[in-house]
Amino acid sequence: MTDVFLAGATGNLGSQIAMRLRRERARVRALVRPANGRDEKVRALAEQGVEIVEGTLDDPAERLARAMAGAAVVISAVQGAENVIVQGQANLLRAAEKAGVPRLIPSDFAIDLFRLDPGDNVFLDHRRAAHDAFSGSRVAVTSVLNGAFTDVMTAPFLEIVDWDAGTFSYWGDGEQPCDFTTVADTAAYTVAVALDPDSAGRPVRVAGDVLTMKEFHAALEHGTGRRLHLKQRGDVEDLAAEIDRRRVGATHPGEYVALQYTWGMVSGKARLDPLDNDRYPAVRPTRVAEFARLLTI
Ligand SMILES: NC(=O)c1ccc[n+]([C@@H]2O[C@H](COP(=O)([O-])OP(=O)(O)OC[C@H]3O[C@@H](n4cnc5c(N)ncnc54)[C@H](OP(=O)(O)O)[C@@H]3O)[C@@H](O)[C@H]2O)c1
Repeated sequence: MTDVFLAGATGNLGSQIAMRLRRERARVRALVRPANGRDEKVRALAEQGVEIVEGTLDDPAERLARAMAGAAVVISAVQGAENVIVQGQANLLRAAEKAGVPRLIPSDFAIDLFRLDPGDNVFLDHRRAAHDAFSGSRVAVTSVLNGAFTDVMTAPFLEIVDWDAGTFSYWGDGEQPCDFTTVADTAAYTVAVALDPDSAGRPVRVAGDVLTMKEFHAALEHGTGRRLHLKQRGDVEDLAAEIDRRRVGATHPGEYVALQYTWGMVSGKARLDPLDNDRYPAVRPTRVAEFARLLTI
């Protein structure tokens, strides 16, 4: 039975990773922050046989090391600012070293952050900084890169789909292939990678679907049966200018980072290539049109 230590198990992705690990009969110990107000999630995890370990990424590495003793792999699905992604995950890696855990899957789960330059995406800068902190460790670090969560693509903060107005807005020419994977499929791939010791030490790139923005729009229309009027907002340079405009005077990266993710996709710079889907044939990912059929709007 593979023994997995999971941070971020109460989160959107982390909870699906935990449940999937249990389906694969792995032993799961989940690091859960005390009094985080997510009692129902914690109860659901415990009901599925997940062992709850109270603590945070800020705990002394010795304490975290004791909690993860005997694990074959540590998975991090945490979300947060620089202190969580860089310092918190570096602490998690130190704990893994102390405990003799051979592998870590950090909380990357994104477009290809290794192809981006500093400043292209503030949140992905943090993830590359975490990798700088990991370097030289004897713990093998394996990123899972999945492109955009299909589930998130229609969320208002991405400014793409407006169901009320009946519009689909895109930047660029709409012809650049982009990578999409649902949260559930990302969890499934992450579990497959966690249970595959040969994946150690290099990024694994997977995508549930590869579509241009125009194809994504068509798949959404097809799946939902809703018409969405196509609106081109500008070319890729216009998008870069809009990001710069919002960045000046922003009080929080949240005011412009969604557009930075879009830029990474529609510029083609953070495209996942080549894909490693064939390595994990047991995962049969959901296509965007299939996913859209299940959307309740
Ligand atoms: N590719 C995409 O389109 C896409 C979209 C969204 C997210 N993501 C990525 O997916 C990953 C998970 O995101 P998510 O949306 O699932 O996050 P989420 O729902 O916000 O969950 C974050 C998790 O991290 C935990 N956490 C935060 N700080 C912690 C700390 N200091 N110590 C221990 N645990 C801590 C939270 O615990 P509490 O319950 O205590 O708060 C929670 O379990 C991230 O890497 C994120 O960037 C990718």
